[in-house]
Amino acid sequence: MAGFVPVLTTPELGPGEMREVHAHGRDLLLVNVGQTYYALDARCPDDGTNLAREGRLTGTVLLCPRDDSAFEVRTGERLAPAGRAPLGGDALRGEENTIAVGPRPR
Ligand code: FES
Repeated sequence: MAGFVPVLTTPELGPGEMREVHAHGRDLLLVNVGQTYYALDARCPDDGTNLAREGRLTGTVLLCPRDDSAFEVRTGERLAPAGRAPLGGDALRGEENTIAVGPRPR
C-alpha cells in the first residue's frame, strides 16, 4: 500500500456513519454507504465549513445545514445549489479490515 495511510479499521465505521480523519496533511471525511467506503474533503469548497462536524448524511447525500448545500457522496457532485464547486475526493484502499487513504493525484 505504498503512499497509502491507514486511517481506520472497518469496524470503526458502520453503515450510514461518517468520520473525520487526517492523512497527507488534509482533513478528510470517510463515509460508509452500504459497506462501500468513500473519502471526501471534510472542508466545504466554498468557505471551509467542516462538513464532518456540521454535515448530515441521508442515504448517499451529504447535507450542509449552514447553506443547504447537498453533495452526492459517491461522486462528490454538488446537487444543490447549482453552479458551485463539487466536493473533492481521494482514493481509498481496503486491505483485510483496514481502510487506507492514498495521496491525491496531481
Ligand atoms: S457552507 Fe459550504 S457546503 Fe455549506
